[in-house]
Amino acid sequence: MSAPAPVSDPLAAYRITEAPYYRPCSGEVALYQHAYAHRLPLILKGPTGCGKTRFVEYMAWKLGRPLVTLACNEDMTAADLVGRWLLDADGTRWHDGPLTLAARHGAICYLDEVVEARQDTTVVIHPLTDARRMLPLDRKGELVHAHPDFQLVVSYNPGYQSAAKDMKPSTRQRFAALEFDYPDATVETEIVAHEAGIDAALAAQLVGVAQGSRALRQQGLDEGISTRMLIYAGILIRDGVAPRDSCEMTLTRALTDDPDLLAALRQLVDAHFP
Ligand SMILES: Nc1ncnc2c1ncn2[C@@H]1O[C@H](COP(=O)(O)OP(=O)(O)OP(=O)(O)O)[C@@H](O)[C@H]1O
Ligand SMILES: [Mg+2]
Repeated sequence: MSAPAPVSDPLAAYRITEAPYYRPCSGEVALYQHAYAHRLPLILKGPTGCGKTRFVEYMAWKLGRPLVTLACNEDMTAADLVGRWLLDADGTRWHDGPLTLAARHGAICYLDEVVEARQDTTVVIHPLTDARRMLPLDRKGELVHAHPDFQLVVSYNPGYQSAAKDMKPSTRQRFAALEFDYPDATVETEIVAHEAGIDAALAAQLVGVAQGSRALRQQGLDEGISTRMLIYAGILIRDGVAPRDSCEMTLTRALTDDPDLLAALRQLVDAHFP
């Protein structure tokens, strides 16, 4: 008798095998665990580069669930989420979209920047994110009942979006929410030092610049310097680039074109790198 054919794992590519580095900031890990225990759909909101994606990667690893991620945009259609018929050598074949793949086989599905998707696209998540937990595939004539391990997580940045780009109340009210922000200086210093591979004193100088920039938001800056940008600056400095040149390239120039704001940012860099 021949050995049974190996069962292929449709989520193999989405399994996280190595623990992602994540430095918890408040009680978000425990809160996520409670939400996951009941498979509550979750919104992660917060400014760009503050750790939302890293957090969901870490939680997926901790819970032992695969993570299927999709970045949303305004051209996205429902078929991009649920799937479509594709033509191949053997005729037409149904291809599950990322949402269907996650719901069918029990992954965490993470829709990044969900408000970028059109509202008529996002409604496909409705039956999945209420007590029904199911996904009708109209074009295929199939009703997928979500796997018990499936959870939907979405993220968005409340800072720079217009009212037109808000979620419909009927979408929004299907989710519990966790709010993220840049961590306090001590924690952010630890993260930047770890991620850029620099010492804590240098990371603290960079964090000082970022904190000053975040105060410039009242003066017309859309977003302050993110943790992500600080890591870029740290990496260049570690590589031997002079600190001021690194900051000019990764923090100042990268953030704005406005001459007044550029001058204000340069002053901050000068103050922290005398
Ligand atoms: N709490 C944290 N622990 C570990 N690393 C962190 C943390 N917060 C931020 N980082 C670092 O900052 C980088 C940017 O974070 P991440 O990509 O998760 O931001 P984001 O909130 O998803 O941003 P965006 O909204 O632009 O997608 C990460 O790659 C990671 O290196
Ligand atoms: Mg992200």
